[in-house]
Amino acid sequence: MAKGFYISKSLGVLGILLGIAALCTIIALSVVYAQEKNRNVETFTVATEVPALSTAILATTVNQSIPWNRFRLPKSLMPDSYQVKLRPYFTPNDKGLYIFEGTSTVRFTCKEATNVIIIHSKKLNYTRTQGHMVVLRGVNGSETPAIDRTELVEPTEYLVVHLRDYLLEGSQYEMDTVFQGELADDLAGFYRSEYMDGNVKKVVATTQMQAADARKSFPCFDEPAMKATFSITLIHPRHLVALSNMLPKGPSVPLNGEPEWVVTEFHPTPRMSTYLLAYIVSEFKSVETRSPNNVLIRIWARPDAIDEGHGEYALNVTGPILNFFAEHYDTPYPLEKSDQIGLPDFNAGAMENWGLVTYRENSLLYDPLFSSSGNKERVVTVIAHELAHQWFGNLVTVEWWNDLWLNEGFASYVEYLGADYAEPTWNLKDLIVLSDVYRVMAVDALASSHPLSTPAEEINTPSQISELFDAISYSKGASVLRMLSSFLTENLFKKGLASYLHTFEYQNTVYQDLWQHLQMAVDSQTEIILPELVSTIMDRWILQMGFPVITVDTSTGEISQEHFLLDPESNVTRPSQFNYLWIVPISSLKHDMEQNTYWLQSVPKAQDQRFKTAGDEWVLLNLNVTGYYLVNYDENNWRKIQNQLQTNRAAIPVINRAQVIHDAFNLASARRIPVTLALDNTLFLIHETEYMPWEAALSSLNYFKLMFDRSEVYGPMKNYLKKQVQPLFAYFKTITNNWKDRPPTLMEQYNEVNAIATACSNGIQECETLATTLFKEWMANPNNNPIHPNLRSTIYCNAISEGGEEEWDFAWQQFLNATLVNEADKLRAALACTNEVWLLNRYLSYTLNPDYIRKQDAVSTISSITSNVIGQTLVWDFVRSNWKKLFEDYGGGSFSFSNLIQVVTRRFSTEYELRQLEQFKMENMETGFGSGTRALEQALEKTKANIKWVAENKEAVLKWFTENSQ
Ligand SMILES: *[C@@H]1O[C@H](CO)[C@@H](O)[C@H](O)[C@H]1NC(C)=O
Ligand SMILES: *[C@@H]1O[C@H](CO)[C@@H](O)[C@H](O)[C@H]1NC(C)=O
Ligand SMILES: *[C@@H]1O[C@H](CO)[C@@H](O)[C@H](O)[C@H]1NC(C)=O
Ligand SMILES: *[C@@H]1O[C@H](CO)[C@@H](O)[C@H](O)[C@H]1NC(C)=O
Ligand SMILES: [Zn+2]
Repeated sequence: MAKGFYISKSLGVLGILLGIAALCTIIALSVVYAQEKNRNVETFTVATEVPALSTAILATTVNQSIPWNRFRLPKSLMPDSYQVKLRPYFTPNDKGLYIFEGTSTVRFTCKEATNVIIIHSKKLNYTRTQGHMVVLRGVNGSETPAIDRTELVEPTEYLVVHLRDYLLEGSQYEMDTVFQGELADDLAGFYRSEYMDGNVKKVVATTQMQAADARKSFPCFDEPAMKATFSITLIHPRHLVALSNMLPKGPSVPLNGEPEWVVTEFHPTPRMSTYLLAYIVSEFKSVETRSPNNVLIRIWARPDAIDEGHGEYALNVTGPILNFFAEHYDTPYPLEKSDQIGLPDFNAGAMENWGLVTYRENSLLYDPLFSSSGNKERVVTVIAHELAHQWFGNLVTVEWWNDLWLNEGFASYVEYLGADYAEPTWNLKDLIVLSDVYRVMAVDALASSHPLSTPAEEINTPSQISELFDAISYSKGASVLRMLSSFLTENLFKKGLASYLHTFEYQNTVYQDLWQHLQMAVDSQTEIILPELVSTIMDRWILQMGFPVITVDTSTGEISQEHFLLDPESNVTRPSQFNYLWIVPISSLKHDMEQNTYWLQSVPKAQDQRFKTAGDEWVLLNLNVTGYYLVNYDENNWRKIQNQLQTNRAAIPVINRAQVIHDAFNLASARRIPVTLALDNTLFLIHETEYMPWEAALSSLNYFKLMFDRSEVYGPMKNYLKKQVQPLFAYFKTITNNWKDRPPTLMEQYNEVNAIATACSNGIQECETLATTLFKEWMANPNNNPIHPNLRSTIYCNAISEGGEEEWDFAWQQFLNATLVNEADKLRAALACTNEVWLLNRYLSYTLNPDYIRKQDAVSTISSITSNVIGQTLVWDFVRSNWKKLFEDYGGGSFSFSNLIQVVTRRFSTEYELRQLEQFKMENMETGFGSGTRALEQALEKTKANIKWVAENKEAVLKWFTENSQ
């Protein structure tokens, strides 16, 4: 594989690390992050670190004043247009290599006289003409300087052309190349994807350019601001179909002298960035329609999937979503057509290539018989995310990758608006609070977090770029943009947004440009008054990491802010120019009356009458959690809120009922309130039927389960949950006509699953009977599964947990036979639910046999096994005694040792376990821990924190559950 590069800033030298496999970064990237948001599907992270097995460091001193030793392109040449012709081969050549051949002509303008042409090129072999890799010529009478020599500079991925004379400022030139590259199965650049159609292996030639792999397909100025037009031509076997960003100019024409091949020539693209190019040759089929504005919409997939109607849902929602965004942005869809394609082999979640969006199958295809509502929600939100980029990101593009957060944060926010428009009855917009705001707060509350925005000069190498594709960029970006839209109001936000898009279409921006256009919108009216400029407010949210906890004292009306850290003993080493103070928009309810937004300025403390209460009045801050912060109150106010929740919870909006639970558990972890106060906030659930509060409680209590499910606390805890969930279980039984129908809304469908999962795992007999009965029906008639896809994960798990060998073997057989990955994933997770130690042990051994479980699924399967309390010990014993072998067998691939260490230690909370972990570290020092090195350190620290937490809280928690389970 390729090399990774690392610049040592302190030494000012370029250190070249050889032998480190170039992480599948690109793939692991963008994309992908979305795939982790997948609900109801076991989540697993693609390993972004490859164990440094043979890290030979060759520190060469490289003179960085030479432009081709720098990772950023000089600004002397700007591309105008490319003509690219590519021919992928679908059978290996005589060396056993799949390859593609290409020719390219790039036309560029010289902005500053120079005698060197530097253009990106990666893993391409060039055919020489008169000894050189390129042919150069002046356009419109410009003189052509003679070429001195050409060279490939591998570390910085350049093709460098040294000239005898200077290119002249203002002149245009053209450069031709003829090259060959490998159509590898590495999921980067122009690559090969394979799948089985029955017993026949099929090959697809496809692309993934983001972030920096267009250069692996043809030589190009591969930076997002180097926009140009692209005329793509594909030469391909006659029976296959060729797609690209644009429509073909006409029908494919036969290739001279080669009747089995045809040539498809596409219209030139508008000015665009290289990372958004796409071309695909396959035998896929499509379904199509036209939007009301006459945009051609097509959904492409394997012929079988299209024949079975799996593209229909995507086709149904695409038109409405495109129209929604055209209106939202006040800008028509910029292209003639919108193709979306589901690839069997796509490591990413999806990629927003302009006019030809690529997806994992599970993010585009929907099967009404096998897919759950969660699978469907994923399809509509991923589509909305990618289509949002067609304007924001593709039409207007950030100047450099350091502003990736703006691109991804924005799409991660408006995906909810687009999906909500397509599925207006689902209340999707509320889910951003659980899926993005709360999800990223868990990371952003650590001392090791980082700010959203990074200075451009700190991001240079491909691996620095790939590191930016993280939860902070996506989910914190989405959270702060939603907050901004909320305090500006959506209409004003839209006005500034449209002005930004109109001003910068086909160009590039920095995030300050958006702030400026929003400011112009604010200045054009008098209704919304901000305390400061948009940029002054937003700087504090994007240039410093973390977020505040707002504390209210309702006896005085005092309100204060402080940087929130989950571990109060951790030390923040990153300084902030704003001293970890924010300008905070605070909405509030006072005894169910909404109050005007209050602005807490950049000061630690303030005071306002609206936060002062009398009698049994309470206040509640951060309505619908549009602000990116936590809220704490004096105990008296907490009690009044609890009282309100238990008497008439409708006075508090449903999202805030989730907030009360979420914030309290976080405050308790940070030792800001007693753990029993947080637990008291869950008492009202006995009356609650809504999904959001239940989900907030169940995910908060999951930590309690991990800490206590092997101790005497667990009995009373189960009794408490059994008591709380009983009415919810009865409620869903009634509204589903004894589990025969599904509830009408998506939120109710999700909470139905919570009700069954919680009821069954906490000993409600009727639930256990329901699960075993349904499963037995299926076993009696394997071709007719009576269990609704929504309920399968939880019913399978509980039936296998209640059952024995027979149930397990049946499920295993069904897993081996499953053709749909959605179904296989559900079974694979459920197989880990058995209570038979020997079955679980056998499953563990299967997990490490790639004939049974694909290597890429091994860690997520082991993770399921460790979720089972009896599996935890088995896996730990296994890992301890087989580390060396595991490491040798799996060390080189995508196996994530960091995830493995994290899941196997997540229950650790005793001195004994800490000693075992320390011993494990000592014993295996020599073998090493590869990509798990940091995870091991974190596990040691986490175990110490758990020991302390359990010591401090166990008694109180036991007492609380015992008293409240009657
Ligand atoms: C490019 O050239 C190298 C060195 O000769 C060779 O190993 C490699 O296979 C070539 N790649 C292609 C795609 O032809
Ligand atoms: C797509 O829309 C059609 C027409 O409204 C509808 O009959 C069909 O059920 C929809 N398909 C899916 C999968 O939602
Ligand atoms: C933070 O710093 C204090 C004082 O230097 C030290 O005692 C403590 O262990 C540090 N905490 C962590 C989590 O490193
Ligand atoms: C809060 O969200 C609910 C439902 O999502 C919505 O109906 C309500 O208008 C929102 N309230 C405020 C103050 O924005
Ligand atoms: Zn995106």
